[in-house]
Amino acid sequence: MKGIILAGGSATRLYPITLAVSKQMLPVYDKPMIYYPLSTLMMAGIREVLIISTPVHLPAFESLLGDGSKFGMKFEYKVQEKPVGLADAFILGADFIGDDNVALILGDNMVYGSRIERVLKAASNLKEGGIIFGYQVADPTSYGVVEIDKTGKAISIEEKPAVPKSNLAVPGIYFYDNEVTKIAKEIKPSERGELEITDVNRVYMEKGKLQVIPLGNGYAWFDTGSPDRLSDAADFVKAIELRQGVQIACLEEIAYRNEWISKETLLEYANKYKKTEYGQHLMRVADQDWDTYKDIYNSELFNF
Ligand code: TTP
Repeated sequence: MKGIILAGGSATRLYPITLAVSKQMLPVYDKPMIYYPLSTLMMAGIREVLIISTPVHLPAFESLLGDGSKFGMKFEYKVQEKPVGLADAFILGADFIGDDNVALILGDNMVYGSRIERVLKAASNLKEGGIIFGYQVADPTSYGVVEIDKTGKAISIEEKPAVPKSNLAVPGIYFYDNEVTKIAKEIKPSERGELEITDVNRVYMEKGKLQVIPLGNGYAWFDTGSPDRLSDAADFVKAIELRQGVQIACLEEIAYRNEWISKETLLEYANKYKKTEYGQHLMRVADQDWDTYKDIYNSELFNF
């Protein structure tokens, strides 16, 4: 499976912060925002990623992330001339996707939870159709809202409904089979003139092929696109990291645990970042007996 991060858009809800800076470059506590969605794809086991952004901002992402080799990955970049909608990602990314399945994540979305890696890996094993998530929220009226049957199949999806049929909001992380490029090319722009991901999802749903994974207790999802949410996400990351001495979205750590980079490479980065908690954390990761941890995680004990 390949991955796409959509990191363009206009970011008008964050004006004037984003008048000259890309939203997805803004810090979420101690890292650039794009680290979080990238870490999500990495946790799903996805190694080839296309990063899409505006003509002005794309070069900064190339300079931040490079060709991916530092994480044992492969990155490609593509300009989106105008923010014509989320489903445009599959049209712009058609060559990159080729014959593969694909995961799309929005550059301002962040998920966290104890079993999230397991959930993401399950989604990336998709054989046919689409898999999206349903995040339980108190007030779903400002989100895409999905209603599911007993097996988790989507039976209705609505954008910002006044009277929601469920309390499951749809986060900006989507997994699809290869048909998605064809579907994206066939949908028409909505009333607001955008190629809507909801319309892509509806096509899958109408074929009975849209599976929803509910994220209930124990998961955090943030869309960091407004000042309040951005600040909430930063507070959340800070609280977890300081309290537990862990790092959220520590890309070198995930690459190392995925066995995509060696301990030597991990230590190079630990040294480069040694003045930061991020670097200190990498040092601790290198010192851990990860093989023992891995055996525990892979044991029956964790087979739930
Ligand atoms: P939004 O937050 O819906 O839009 P936006 O980022 O332009 O922000 P605002 O509403 O404040 O003007 O976009 C969700 C994510 O998708 C965000 O990371 C930007 C990205 N995006 C694109 O890259 N291209 C697009 O055409 C659109 C619509 C969004």
